[in-house]
Amino acid sequence: MKILVVGKGGREHALVWKLSQLHKVFCAPGNAGIGRIAECVDINPADIAGLAGYAAQERIELTVVGPEAPLVAGIADEFQGRGLLLFGPSARAARLEGDKSFAKRLMQEQGIPTARFELFDNHDKAKDYLSTHELPVVIKASGLAAGKGAVIAQERDEAEAVLEQMMVEGRFGEAGNSVVIEEFLAGEEASVIGLCDGTRVEMLVSSQDHKPLLDGDKGPNTGGMGAYAPAPVVTSELESRIEEAVFQPLLAGLRKAGIDYRGVIYAGMMLTEDGPKVLEFNCRFGDPETQAVLPLLESDLAELLLACAQGDLADRQARWSNNWAMCVVAASGGYPDSYKKGIPISGDLVGTDDVVVFHAGTRLEEEKVVTSGGRVLGVTGIGKGLRQAQGKAYKALEGIRFEGMFFRRDIGLRGLERLGL
Ligand code: AMP
Ligand code: GLY
Repeated sequence: MKILVVGKGGREHALVWKLSQLHKVFCAPGNAGIGRIAECVDINPADIAGLAGYAAQERIELTVVGPEAPLVAGIADEFQGRGLLLFGPSARAARLEGDKSFAKRLMQEQGIPTARFELFDNHDKAKDYLSTHELPVVIKASGLAAGKGAVIAQERDEAEAVLEQMMVEGRFGEAGNSVVIEEFLAGEEASVIGLCDGTRVEMLVSSQDHKPLLDGDKGPNTGGMGAYAPAPVVTSELESRIEEAVFQPLLAGLRKAGIDYRGVIYAGMMLTEDGPKVLEFNCRFGDPETQAVLPLLESDLAELLLACAQGDLADRQARWSNNWAMCVVAASGGYPDSYKKGIPISGDLVGTDDVVVFHAGTRLEEEKVVTSGGRVLGVTGIGKGLRQAQGKAYKALEGIRFEGMFFRRDIGLRGLERLGL
């Protein structure tokens, strides 16, 4: 099959890595690592018409979209209108991620467990409500904010300032015109991801991300500093419970709203003392979760994604190896704030049988691989156990260098503790 993957990060490298084992893959725009295994095409993911034109011209049989922005902007609708197959939800369906108010209302209507919340599009009313809310309190911009739109405020002054930045000062542009104010949930987080064909969902193995920048979950939130799969905290009993209490009612609610959801449904879960609760839904694969999940998939990913795009998952099931995988992200000095780009990277930037070096922010400059993003590489180790996977990822990282490079040393700690390792 001829497949086009849209995007340029570690998640897209993982998708291309898996798909290119059995298929011919193109990637727009890709990066230095992706360029080794696929044909990179210089089209911006925001250029929906350009991508559709390219897919038609090259007779691409399936397009797979990595990031959320083109989905929310309607790439699936454009492709469908032109008779091109694409894996990813329509703009209306992608509101599940792009419009938190929509997602929260849907969860409420369907009785899906989530944090108690109120929605506001008026600053004065939001401020009044906030003045009596228990602390800590969580304030979220309703629209897309590149992963920075959720703030946990410990103090009332801080909460008021955040609200003002979002609703009055326009820190997130239009995304902050409407906000969700919700209760703080305590617990352990896990990512539970399913492939959906509109009526059925096929679950992927669970995983766990590490959002804070520093060891011990300290420092500011990032796009994700590492992930491992499966996540032992998500027992098979819990997984079934999440499928029944979250995914099934969600799909029923989407259908009721006239939405035929074909694509990824990513549920960011908080596993609380009162059971699993949804923190957020995303309409795409997780990053870096995908870099830990896909190395465990034995089935042909293209076949599953194609079946979803065609609304015909039927009884197809994903087959998984018994291995474990851990992805450790190597980031640029200064990330998640400002950082330098164009720094040469040395070492093994490909990997071996049981290590895959996924490129997240790299590009080629005169045949040399240089940094081009905040998250630069995601080094995934694969092993018979979580400890082995961890050892392989960190060993491989020892041989990689670039000026300012840093990574968390404690990826997987919760999983190892839970396994008693
Ligand atoms: P979101 O953008 O909704 O995924 O939120 C980003 C991160 O903020 C989550 O991964 C959690 O770590 C944290 N978070 C979001 N909502 C809550 C909540 N209600 N209680 C506690 N932490 C939260
Ligand atoms: N790793 C978190 C996300 O992809 O949203």
